[in-house]
Amino acid sequence: MRIAVFGMGYVGLVSAAGLASWGHEVIGVEVARARLEALRAGRLPIYEPGLSSLVATGVAEGHLRFVSELKPGQGVDIAIIAVGTHDGDGGWQTQPIESCLSAIVPNLDDGAAIVIRSTLPPAFLPALRTLVAAKRAATGRGPVPLMVNPEFTKEGTAVSDFLHPDRIVVGQIDDPAGLGTQCVREMYHAIPETTPFLVMAGEDAVLAKLGANLFLATKISFANELALLCEAYGADVTSVVGAMGHDDRIGPKFLKAGIGFGGSCLPHQVTMTVREARLDGRSTPLFAAVESINDQRRYDFVDRLRDAAGGTLEGRTVALLGLTFKPNTDDLRDAPSLTIAEAAMAAGARVVAYDPMAPARIRAASLLPGLEIVDSVEAALRDADVAGLVTEWPEFIGLDWAEVAEWMRIPAVVDGRNALDPDAVLAAGMSYIGFGRQVGRVAVATTRRAAPWNDQLEWASAAAD
Ligand code: UGA
Repeated sequence: MRIAVFGMGYVGLVSAAGLASWGHEVIGVEVARARLEALRAGRLPIYEPGLSSLVATGVAEGHLRFVSELKPGQGVDIAIIAVGTHDGDGGWQTQPIESCLSAIVPNLDDGAAIVIRSTLPPAFLPALRTLVAAKRAATGRGPVPLMVNPEFTKEGTAVSDFLHPDRIVVGQIDDPAGLGTQCVREMYHAIPETTPFLVMAGEDAVLAKLGANLFLATKISFANELALLCEAYGADVTSVVGAMGHDDRIGPKFLKAGIGFGGSCLPHQVTMTVREARLDGRSTPLFAAVESINDQRRYDFVDRLRDAAGGTLEGRTVALLGLTFKPNTDDLRDAPSLTIAEAAMAAGARVVAYDPMAPARIRAASLLPGLEIVDSVEAALRDADVAGLVTEWPEFIGLDWAEVAEWMRIPAVVDGRNALDPDAVLAAGMSYIGFGRQVGRVAVATTRRAAPWNDQLEWASAAAD
C-alpha cells in the first residue's frame, strides 16, 4: 500500500518506520523545516531504541522517504494523521488536525481512507466528521472514510510495541460501507491473525485509548496511596503489591510507588479529563484524586530530601540522579525532575543533576535556569548533602553505594522510584528513604517443606529484632 503519514513526531515516525518495514511505500510528511532536514540527513529528532536502524533500513530499501507536503495526485491509499494535539499549555488543540485534513481531503483519490493516530478527546469527533464531509462534498467527489486508530506504544519500547501490538483498535468515525476498516486491516497485514483486531465506533476507540491511560495512572496513584498506608503501619509496599500482583485480576504492573507518573501522555490526559468534565458540569472524583495524589508526590519527594539533609535544604547541595521522565528516553515533558529541582531550589538548595541521556541534559539546562548539570554521576554526588534518585536508569541501580558514601558530605539517598535495595544501601553506610519501604529487615531463606510441586527457595521477610 502507499501510505502518507503526517507529522514526524514520536507517534508518526514510529508508525512510518514500522509500516515501511512491512513493505508498504511510506511518505513521511513533516512541515517543520529543521526536523525534515534532520530526517533527510539521517538524524532522528527523538531518541527511541531501535528506531534509528528501522528508519535507516526503510530509507535504504526505498520504502520510506520524507517530504514537506503531499502534492496532489500522489495516489495514496491511506493518509495517517499523527500531528500533535497538545496546545503547550496543558490543553487539547484541534487546529493542527483540522489544517492537515483541510489540505489533504480535497486531493485524496476515491477509495483512500483517512486514519487519525493522534491522541484526541471524544468531543472532537463530530467537528472532524463534519469538516471532512464538507471538504469532500465541495470537491464533487465521493466520500472518504474517516477512521481513528489509537496507538498504545510506550516511549522506550515504542518500536517493538508497534511491530508486536497486543491489540489493534479501529474506530469508525465515518465509514458506512466499511471500506476504511478494510484499508486499516490491509495496512496491518503483517500482524498475526491471533492479535485482536477490534472494530468499534470512533468515540469508543478514542475512549478505549484514554481509558487505558487513565487506568494505568489510577494504578500508579493507588500504589502511591497504598505506600502511605504501608508507612503508617510499618509495612513494605513492594512486598504488599508483589503479593497483590499474583492475583491475575490485579496483575503486577504499574503498581510501583514513588514520585509518580510523568511524560507527555498520562499527566496530560488525566488533567484534561478532569478539566473538561468540570467545564461540562460533570465531576470525575476518581481521576481528580489520581491527579492530586500524583502532583503531591513530587513535593513529598522534596520533603524527604529535606529530612535526609538534616531538616533543611537551605544551603544544602542536592544531587539529582536522572532527569528524563523514565529510563530509555530523552523526553523531559512533564518530567518530575523539573518540578523537584525547581522546588528544591526555591527552598534554598543548590541542585546538581546528572542524566545519562545527553540531549535531555542539554534541554534541562535551558528549561530550568539555576539547575547545574554535570557529565558524570560522580560529579553530581561528590560533596552533595543528599542524593535523590529520580529516574531508574540502570547506571544508578548498579552504583557502588559504599563508594558513593565516600563521595558525599551527608551519605543519604532518597529513592523516588523504590528501585534500590534499602538494606544494601544501609549496609554501605548510607541512610535511605523510599516511598512505603521498610529498612533494617532481614531476609530469611525458607524452603517449602515436602512440596514436590514447588522446590524453589522462597524469600520471606521478617522484621529484625
Ligand atoms: C503511556 C502508556 O503506557 C502507553 O500505553 C501509551 O500509548 C502512551 O502513554 C501514549 O498515550 O502515547 P509512556 O508515556 O511512554 O506511555 O510512559 P509509561 O511507561 O506509561 O510511564 C508513564 C510514567 O509512569 C513514567 O513517569 C513512569 O516512571 C511512571 N510509572 C510507571 C510509575 O510511576 N509507576 C509504575 O508502576 C509505572
